[in-house]
Amino acid sequence: MNPTEAVATTAGALLSTSELLADLRHYLRPDPPALSMPPRMFTSPEIYELERERIFGRSWVLVGHVSQLAGAGDYIALDIAGEPVVVTRDERGRLHALSPVCRHRMMPLVEPGSGNTRDFTCSYHLWRYGLDGSLVAATHMRDNTDFDPSGCRLPTFAVHQWQGLVFVNLDAGAPSFADDLAVVDAEMANYHLDAMVQVSTWTEEWHCNWKIAVENSHENYHALGFHPQTVKPLMTGGIDMNVHLDSPLVTRLISPAGNPFDVRFLPLTEAERRVMYSFRLFPCAAVATFGESIAWLSLIPVSIDRTQVRGGTLMPAAAVDGADLPAIRAEIEAVTSVINGEDRRGLEAVQRTVGSRYLERGHLSPKEPGVLAFYRNLALALS
Ligand code: FES
Ligand SMILES: [Fe+2]
Repeated sequence: MNPTEAVATTAGALLSTSELLADLRHYLRPDPPALSMPPRMFTSPEIYELERERIFGRSWVLVGHVSQLAGAGDYIALDIAGEPVVVTRDERGRLHALSPVCRHRMMPLVEPGSGNTRDFTCSYHLWRYGLDGSLVAATHMRDNTDFDPSGCRLPTFAVHQWQGLVFVNLDAGAPSFADDLAVVDAEMANYHLDAMVQVSTWTEEWHCNWKIAVENSHENYHALGFHPQTVKPLMTGGIDMNVHLDSPLVTRLISPAGNPFDVRFLPLTEAERRVMYSFRLFPCAAVATFGESIAWLSLIPVSIDRTQVRGGTLMPAAAVDGADLPAIRAEIEAVTSVINGEDRRGLEAVQRTVGSRYLERGHLSPKEPGVLAFYRNLALALS
């Protein structure tokens, strides 16, 4: 029997969580079914709770580029699957990832976004916290002898910088992903990623489940439908990609470039000029090269049906030295916003139909091996 036939294609609109996880485990097989996940995987509140606990409670999430946290007091605030997080740079130059919720009576200390501050003063009763999360002052608390201010501070998360990109893990004791990325480190050496300059960055919120956005980011096939005038003409080598599943965290997706890239600033080899090299760090980070331009992307759940999309474009420092940076930025942002808009409109349309009772699992094309790689790592993380 063809192994694919052993797997039901019907959606079973109300499959139980254990049935969904059993279906997911089929993607761990050496010959995984060439089928999309049961649609219920995108709408089940129980699955989303499992993802919060087993994935986003313990995974490295890309939040930005180090240039966004260059000076003392710079911060990035965001929600990771419903958990508020702030990343700060303190006066001594150290990065911190903190839970920005007041220890008094739960007031959020900062709105999602970014900026620069000397401290985090709670707007409710004015308790004040330093950039490292320590409590600096608590008004009218001296007479409460049960309260020990020295033992009161914001909980900390793990933060790690890799090649200029900043990652946060809600599990403060999480192991590093450095070993998982060793092959990428070696293969990207000529891109000198850590010496690149971020020329633009953006944050959007899309109305779709995070996995709808992530699986889309694992294939070029959709350039035909979503991006006929924008991305597709750039894919001079076609929409194929070679997929290397290196570890439960790292997947490399490498596409032929067709016409080799012109390079002026990076020592790319002939072979490197002929590919679009990219990788994914499970669950939701992507880094993609396009010749000498590199884009990073992070697709972070805000809730079961909302995804924060964070991204940035990096270029070699020499490419922007003495150049008209605002003009470069404006040009990149114009292109990015069109392409993001195409993905956003398409994926929000998918989200509108994902709850239909008449859906079935879809058959995947051989042009979508990256989607199966994502499903595999999802299965490893959830089951
Ligand atoms: S809730 Fe923050 S000071 Fe009261
Ligand atoms: Fe796209």
